[in-house]
Amino acid sequence: MDEAALAHDGKEIGSQGGHDTISGWGTRNACKTADLPSTLAALRQTMPVKDAAMSDAVWALGLMSGTSLDGIDVAMILSDGERALDIGPALTVPYEPALRERLRDLLGTRPGERQGAVAEVERLLTDAHAEAVHRLLALTRPRPALIGFHGQTLFHAPDQGITVQIGDGARLAALTNTAVINDFRSADVAAGGEGAPLAPAWHAALACDLPRPLAVLNLGGVGNVTWLSDDRSEPPLAFDTGPGNALLDDWMRTRQGLPHDDGGRLAAQGRVDQEALAALLQHAHFTRPPPKSLDRNAFSAQAVARLCDADGAATLAAFTVAAVAQALSWMPRPPALWLVCGGGRHNPVLMAGLAEALGCPVRPVESEGWNGDALEAQAFAFLAVRAHRRLPLSWPTTTGVPHPVCGGAPHAPPMA
Ligand SMILES: Nc1ncnc2c1ncn2[C@@H]1O[C@H](COP(=O)(O)OP(=O)(O)O)[C@@H](O)[C@H]1O
Ligand SMILES: [Mg+2]
Repeated sequence: MDEAALAHDGKEIGSQGGHDTISGWGTRNACKTADLPSTLAALRQTMPVKDAAMSDAVWALGLMSGTSLDGIDVAMILSDGERALDIGPALTVPYEPALRERLRDLLGTRPGERQGAVAEVERLLTDAHAEAVHRLLALTRPRPALIGFHGQTLFHAPDQGITVQIGDGARLAALTNTAVINDFRSADVAAGGEGAPLAPAWHAALACDLPRPLAVLNLGGVGNVTWLSDDRSEPPLAFDTGPGNALLDDWMRTRQGLPHDDGGRLAAQGRVDQEALAALLQHAHFTRPPPKSLDRNAFSAQAVARLCDADGAATLAAFTVAAVAQALSWMPRPPALWLVCGGGRHNPVLMAGLAEALGCPVRPVESEGWNGDALEAQAFAFLAVRAHRRLPLSWPTTTGVPHPVCGGAPHAPPMA
């Protein structure tokens, strides 16, 4: 391990109250996936874990490329897998348009299908991630001890035991000369979970001093929420709320040739069609109790097809908001505050709609000093540290898995 990646004077973020929420869930070292890949044991030997709390901390780099297909988020954190000890730099590297279109073309591809095209795009995707890592590392001194590499989801059907993320961990480890952990979702799905959402543990680590109950809402391509209980010994409740931005992005692309409704300008000019909205809300997702997760393309915009561009955008934005409002009904107690991360918080129509629908303060996560564009990438850095330490990544209340589950596939760099 690169010793420079070990923390000696990291500033502890958000844990002044001394709440160690993650280990407080009674699952520390209680991971039941004893059949982790044997390479993890090998990796652990090259990356020894020290005992003292602070010296367990490492700088880790996270890579997230969400279902919006906008690009690669890359972020650094200092963590021991339990706490957010320091936050490093972050940036977003947009996909080259040609790669974005090739990824879009592969959405919905099941395991074993279109193998040649998948292998070629996976290589291009991995190289784009390596480039994003190098761009971030040009800005910062600490070297990451490990990289959490989410990869690009092509297909997600946990009810069929399938979740597909592409991204070649061994290639990224070689290109960055850094240990990589990828494939975060498969172990959870194999154990009977939804494989998503996986960010709740990071939300809890960041929010450990904030008043509860608290909701952290991520509006990416899909929307997902983490509900943090006022009883801090309880693990979070988490689930996908419904559409985030993807349906609206697709509408903008096909109707206006634009990647998204910038600033919510088109939706702000339109009128919500209540009949279409009611039809959209008929989807079975909304009557299903959590935990539950969604494929990017779970929803169809058929109900708005007859509307003009602005009314369609207004109705799809209202659908995202209404889906979040529906999520309230599954929460044991209403949150005192909603914090919003992900690209959807840049859309004022969504934010105003949420404030009206939720009836309590709704703020971008920046109100707490967090970076809402980097939060998911930070989460995968955190999960990489947890995977390395064989701590659980998911719980019955976050993915519906029957017991807390570890996950992730480790890849040591060739010269380690
Ligand atoms: N200025 C903006 N106005 C409206 N929507 C925005 C803006 N910036 C980003 N978005 C939305 O956020 C999406 C990206 O969100 P992101 O959190 O990166 O999603 P994902 O995790 O799926 O990649 C874009 O596709 C777009 O819909
Ligand atoms: Mg994104």
